[in-house]
Amino acid sequence: MSPNEQPLDGKVAIVTGAGRGIGKAIAKAYARAGAAVCCAARSVAEIHETLEDIVAAGGQGLAVPTDVTQIAVIQQMVKMTVETFGGLDILVINAGASGEKQPVEDSDPEIWLTTLEINLLGAYYCAKAAIPDLKQRGSGKIITVGSGLGHRGMVELSAYACSKAGLWMLTRVLAQELSPYNISVNELIPGPVITRMTQTAQVQSVFDIEGEWAKTPEEVVPLALFLATQPDIGPTAQSFSLIRRDN
Ligand SMILES: NC(=O)c1ccc[n+]([C@@H]2O[C@H](COP(=O)([O-])OP(=O)(O)OC[C@H]3O[C@@H](n4cnc5c(N)ncnc54)[C@H](OP(=O)(O)O)[C@@H]3O)[C@@H](O)[C@H]2O)c1
Repeated sequence: MSPNEQPLDGKVAIVTGAGRGIGKAIAKAYARAGAAVCCAARSVAEIHETLEDIVAAGGQGLAVPTDVTQIAVIQQMVKMTVETFGGLDILVINAGASGEKQPVEDSDPEIWLTTLEINLLGAYYCAKAAIPDLKQRGSGKIITVGSGLGHRGMVELSAYACSKAGLWMLTRVLAQELSPYNISVNELIPGPVITRMTQTAQVQSVFDIEGEWAKTPEEVVPLALFLATQPDIGPTAQSFSLIRRDN
């Protein structure tokens, strides 16, 4: 790498949930690092705002309205990205929803299903749609944004915890399937981050853990950059966490 070269120069990335919070911070950071970034989420105004920030900082990108529960829409988003920028190197599966905070007994089955659809099925759809283009490049990275709750669980957040547990297993299986193609697949666990998701009264108890690091989305960026810039022979099927205390 020459002194002026940026670590993601020439790379193309898709970040789901790039309209706000953690996804927005990662999308902007990858663009600053030289990648062309497709920003995907449902809220059109939010992804356009992310794109405006990217362009204003001298980067390049695309904003594609995407609902990750719709596989045809995801396939179209991947196609647009590849047609616009010539390929795909990095997929960040970040879009997510917390669901309702309820004990299983009182939980709403519709909300349970929707949480699984966004956090797990949506991740599966994104990976499935992106794999052919990642393989085409000869190497690549998939980063799944998981949660400590997917490893240890939490009362009253069964749908969220189960969806993230499934996402962790999907991460591991994808890593095994894609290792022969130089595509590494790792989980990034942000720990508590101050975003719209955690500002709702329903999930504020995530912050009740004494001594935890309640961070800004920008504080997740160094780990996201680390995972995107590892060599082909680097880590895969691993979980990287910013959690301070696992209790
Ligand atoms: N914040 C934390 O403390 C924390 C901790 C651990 C893990 N995480 C994980 O980090 C990720 C980002 O969360 P965040 O805290 O940044 O939350 P956020 O600010 O609420 O952002 C969530 C993003 O996901 C998008 N999204 C939700 N449903 C979608 C759908 N069906 N299709 C496409 N995009 C969708 C949202 O956009 P639209 O609603 O416009 O579609 C938004 O851009 C999630 O996977 C979350 O589980 C967060």
